[in-house]
Amino acid sequence: MKVNGKLTRTIWPLADPRAVDVIDQTALPYEYRVRRLASLEDVRHAICSMQVRGAPLIGVTAAYGVALALVPRADDDTLLAAIATLAATRPTAVNLHWALARLQACLTPLAPALRAEAAWLEAARIADEDVEQCRRIGENGLLLLRSRAGARGRLDLMTHCNAGWLATVDYGTALAPIYAASAAGIDVHVWVSETRPRNQGLLTAWELRQQGVPHTVIADNAAGVLLARGGIDAVVVGADRIAANGDVANKVGTWLKALAAREAGVPFYVAAPRSTIDFACPNGELIPIEERPADELCIVRGHDAAGRPGDLRQLPADEAVANPAFDLTPARLVSALISERGSCPASGAGLLSLYPEERHG
Ligand code: MRU
Repeated sequence: MKVNGKLTRTIWPLADPRAVDVIDQTALPYEYRVRRLASLEDVRHAICSMQVRGAPLIGVTAAYGVALALVPRADDDTLLAAIATLAATRPTAVNLHWALARLQACLTPLAPALRAEAAWLEAARIADEDVEQCRRIGENGLLLLRSRAGARGRLDLMTHCNAGWLATVDYGTALAPIYAASAAGIDVHVWVSETRPRNQGLLTAWELRQQGVPHTVIADNAAGVLLARGGIDAVVVGADRIAANGDVANKVGTWLKALAAREAGVPFYVAAPRSTIDFACPNGELIPIEERPADELCIVRGHDAAGRPGDLRQLPADEAVANPAFDLTPARLVSALISERGSCPASGAGLLSLYPEERHG
């Protein structure tokens, strides 16, 4: 997608010396800053601090983290320690664990001398596959959205958090169909919820603005009244983990939107690639929900009058605060899942119709 008119990915490798450059998402939307990650520790910190975030991008960055960890030494202990370090960064997005398992399966059989190069190539393959899968999610989601646009030729959509290209390598998941609809000449407008406490909605607004897609930012709590008023054609969100029965873990607040959408008769779509589906997890109750630091609620980030970014404390440091970062939307509230293979009902049977190779026994 474009930044200031220039085609850009969210992560790109540098050959010599080995490193990756990423867009620092903690600086957005105030400043576009590129950060260089040259070691396992750089990658661990980038994921924990959410300089990189979004389920697919976390997976790709972790894959490069393994590759960087193996540059000085690539014995079994180094490989396993790198995987354990990265696996401990964020618990909910399964793409992280999917990517690490893929690296482990690819590298373990190899002689240590071959592993660093193989890891580098495998990470690049995962990144390229993510781009292609998100492009296809866009095409498949557009088929569903076209039917909602109907005779009006206009689409009013709502999303939550940031499931755009910033959360992936390119295109995004929930926003990919929106970009595809816009490119197909459909008159699209997107309601973007702020997504307290980390305000990932501001990232969504930033990237929609960069691509020229009309949008309006709302407080999270305004979503219900807007859905109830009518005029919203669909809600489209991403996912951090989809259980084998179609339950969806996504950014906290997603469930409330799904409930309001059901009550208002508005379709609720979840867009995600294969790497977000956890066939080993039978239902959503088993998905670990990340609890994030209290400071994310207590301190608000913004611009001062002179346009300088800064932090403001809105709660005393000893205030009791809970900060669950994700919630669970049961499959019955999801109108359809959209993946790179097509769309399906949010159910075990629906997922297996897209991924028959996961049918065992
Ligand atoms: O905590 P974050 O910002 O990493 O959470 C991101 C989300 O919840 C996204 O909706 C999800 O990862 C889908 S990204 C394509």
